[in-house]
Amino acid sequence: MGDDPASRVYVNNKKKACEFVGFKSEEFALPADTTQDELLKLVDELNNRKDINGILCQLPLPKGLDENAVIEAISPIKDVDAFHKQNVGRIMIGDYDFLPCTPAGIMEMLHDYKINVDGKNCVVIGRSNIVGKPMAMLLLHENATVTICHSHTKNLKEIASGADVLVAAVGKAKFVTEDMVKENAVVIDVGMNRDEKGKLCGDVDFENVKDKCSFITPVPGGVGPMTIATLMKNTLKAAKLQNGID
Ligand code: GUN
Repeated sequence: MGDDPASRVYVNNKKKACEFVGFKSEEFALPADTTQDELLKLVDELNNRKDINGILCQLPLPKGLDENAVIEAISPIKDVDAFHKQNVGRIMIGDYDFLPCTPAGIMEMLHDYKINVDGKNCVVIGRSNIVGKPMAMLLLHENATVTICHSHTKNLKEIASGADVLVAAVGKAKFVTEDMVKENAVVIDVGMNRDEKGKLCGDVDFENVKDKCSFITPVPGGVGPMTIATLMKNTLKAAKLQNGID
């Protein structure tokens, strides 16, 4: 919807990934002045199409449109982002079909690098529905001790610097500095920002933090590709569920 430049990049990458794995994808690039009713009508059409297994509405939506209403309109079984409240609720109790793409991609990365969070102090900076909250829940499911920090947190530096695993999902360029990171910590950077020179950068001051931690994800090329890989995984699962395939 509209002409958000970051959304353009994300959508293009998602379309490329579909092509790569052999999924058919359709883009509906709607102008910013599309009405809520028009958008809901499109979602309804896609919900009813047998040849569509996954539906994703790239956020943010232009001002004036109700994101929650659109998310709730997507059929939960086609909700490959896992944003629908039915899917969010199922994640809370650990009985889910789909996991949200970014947090699940991060967990997959931790597993792959044999980073066990059981009993570890994990700090998530950011409390969005897309990343912060579900990230905390997935870490909790694996027995981490989880702290969520946000704009009202008073002693952020103190909390962050006690983290064995630090996840930055703030949306502010180079927000996490060296003094906020514990020696040998695992640092996961979810940010996608532009620095003073217009260069793509994360929420972590990578150059100054990289030598202090044991693992750090780069931006670009760290969490982003994992998000997209999980989206493909969710879409395949949606297709299987809708066709009774195990
Ligand atoms: N905007 C930022 N991240 C995401 C995402 O993972 N899915 C959707 N639909 N929109 C986003």
